[in-house]
Amino acid sequence: MKKYFSKKSVIKAMLCFIAVSPVYHASAQTKSNDAKMNAFVAGLMSKMTLDEKIGQLNLVTMGRAITGSVVNKGVEEKIAKGEIGGVFGVYGTEYVSKIQDLAVKNSRLHIPLIFGLDVIHGHRTIFPIPLGVSATWDMGLIQQSAKIAAKEATAEGLNWVFSPMVDIARDARWGRISEGSGEDPWYGSQVAKAMVKGYQGASMMDADAVMACVKHFALYGGAEAGREYNTVDMSLIKMYQDYLPPYKAAVDAGAGSFMSSFNTINGMPATVNQWLLTDLLRKQWGFTGFVVSDYTAVNEVTNHGLGDLQTVSALALKAGLDMDMVGEGFLTTLKKSLKEGKVTQQEIDLACRRVLEAKYKLGLFNNPNKSIDPAREQKDVFTAENRKVAREVAEHSFVLLKNQAETLPLKKSGTIALVGPLADNHSEMLGTWVIAGDPNKSVSVMEGIKNVVGDNVKVLYAKGANFSDDSLLSIRAFALTGPEAKDKRSPQEMIDEAVETAKKADVVVAVVGESSNMSGESSSRSDINIPENQKELLKALAKTGKPLVIVLFNGRPLTLTWEDKHASAILDAWAPGTEAGNAIADVLFGNYNPAGKITATFPRSVGQIPIYYNHKNTGRPYSGQGPAKFKSDYLDISNDPLYPFGYGLSYTTFGYSDVKLSKTSLKGNETLKATVTLTNTGKVAGEEVVQLYISDPVASISRSVKELKNYQKVMLQPGESKEISFNVTTADLKFYNNQLVYDWEPGEFIVQIGTNSTDTHNASVQWNK
Ligand code: NOJ
Repeated sequence: MKKYFSKKSVIKAMLCFIAVSPVYHASAQTKSNDAKMNAFVAGLMSKMTLDEKIGQLNLVTMGRAITGSVVNKGVEEKIAKGEIGGVFGVYGTEYVSKIQDLAVKNSRLHIPLIFGLDVIHGHRTIFPIPLGVSATWDMGLIQQSAKIAAKEATAEGLNWVFSPMVDIARDARWGRISEGSGEDPWYGSQVAKAMVKGYQGASMMDADAVMACVKHFALYGGAEAGREYNTVDMSLIKMYQDYLPPYKAAVDAGAGSFMSSFNTINGMPATVNQWLLTDLLRKQWGFTGFVVSDYTAVNEVTNHGLGDLQTVSALALKAGLDMDMVGEGFLTTLKKSLKEGKVTQQEIDLACRRVLEAKYKLGLFNNPNKSIDPAREQKDVFTAENRKVAREVAEHSFVLLKNQAETLPLKKSGTIALVGPLADNHSEMLGTWVIAGDPNKSVSVMEGIKNVVGDNVKVLYAKGANFSDDSLLSIRAFALTGPEAKDKRSPQEMIDEAVETAKKADVVVAVVGESSNMSGESSSRSDINIPENQKELLKALAKTGKPLVIVLFNGRPLTLTWEDKHASAILDAWAPGTEAGNAIADVLFGNYNPAGKITATFPRSVGQIPIYYNHKNTGRPYSGQGPAKFKSDYLDISNDPLYPFGYGLSYTTFGYSDVKLSKTSLKGNETLKATVTLTNTGKVAGEEVVQLYISDPVASISRSVKELKNYQKVMLQPGESKEISFNVTTADLKFYNNQLVYDWEPGEFIVQIGTNSTDTHNASVQWNK
């Protein structure tokens, strides 16, 4: 390919960049690299017209992957005119290189495009949905899943992914809880870092690395009533303590870009929120990348009531938004706003520079087609190796919610009744955010069982139910893909067949729950049960008296009180991705002993929402014992969740000793060592996620009852014991006080170690300044 930039100057500048880690800390080396990048970008900008600069701020979709209700028009002509800085929603080397050529060969300054896509839980090889991935408590695996996604995405010409989504969510009605890592800020921060590192690798210049786009900045998961795109309004302390940490962690990990969220924050839409995009993100946190809006989010500020498109586009630019996704408000109004003095040349230049810097950091000026390699597209994508990792991640993501009388693992002999709308299905294995994954290549549960146990187990199949017979839920959930392909038989006929099938079997495995479109974007639910018709199926199956194993598909915590009472075992499989069936069968038959732990609380009833483990004590806490007037409780339900944060069982059992502390009184920056002895008290080898929580009972403000501070995932053979120690420092005691100062206060702290956020062993320590 012909080079349009002086090769020597670009390569020289870029080689220096390769030498730095993704975290652009302010070392002398970094400063000199920055100086080279600045010189390059300044040189390029000195040749650019105003229109070309505004063009760099325009991100368009070509409609190959539909992720919103508007698609850009006239894209090819606009690229040639220099009116587009980036394209998303396309992939495949042939197509991407054709579009890149339009920019590099036909536009006046030959500036390459950045190519983005919603690569959320894998590209071609699909991993479990992010909420499932987070249940692995395995940062190595999480990072590896992002690395594989980056490798596959780059092999198809992409260099930018709209991931990770790091929004804290404490409301399971919100469908996008499926796309994040649950409710905890500390844990969410670990996942955010692992994902950014996995995507961006050692250097974003590498041909198999992409730039991460952290979303949705900010607080999107705090949507009122769990309703998609709804208003967010929260105190500053809650923001800083509970919702902002994962975004900050992603900045610290070197994330190259951020996406603004759709919601308002204290009345100001995030997309035009200067405090958020400039004061907090850049000035307080030191972010140096670029910020893109969400899909038509600039235009939507008009609906928020802040003015017409010209006004809101100017507000967005001034607030610190650099790139406008789909809506073309920047493209069509910024020039006019400049003439009218509503924005400044410096503001346009700044945004343009940040977009060009991103392209520079990705190495696109040196080789706009650095990821276009048809050979890699053949050999790096959907490989046996990638699928092996997907299977491993899926197995690790499953959470055993119930296992009465060791119903699981199943014997590798006898007869199974395999029932449910998800039992013999391919497309629904993949989950909510799948653009390039091929549903036909995913492994169904039926196939997985055959693959793992062959003919040793007889499988009798009955569908038993459609996904939903509720017409509103059916119509709305399937709005994008067309109506559910329903079985023509009546619900009762399907149930009767399933019951007859169950009667002929030793055990029933019911693969039920949400279809993939019942969670994710624009998929809030007010009722978070397993859909009613499937529940009727479960009730009929339970009546047969056969052991009932539920394999649950879900993009959110569901209310499972009936299931918890009546099923013999419940294995939460989320939406496991490409290798679904194999991974499920591995776990059902005990080839892998499940060790996943939930990262979002499962309520008993939707009425308990928002429910999360790190809540406040209140002035009138309810002890949980007996009727009590004038306490913070409900008349009709317990305060306790069905399954608490961090919960998950194993095929073995674990015993915890009391907590031993190296000291009970500390001063200043000393380190405390807290130790438990963990014993595998069961009959098989297994892994346990040992969790460390700390509470701060007396402080200058009301603190959460406890906060997760660390964990270790430990493998033990039957009968084996191990001492598990955590080092606690004053960094673990810090919090945001009333003045938003992040510090710790002297006094008593309770160190809690256990198997989940509720079942812990506690020890008290006095820590003075
Ligand atoms: C809207 C979603 O909110 C965002 O997560 C996604 O990246 C964009 N659409 C692009 O598809």
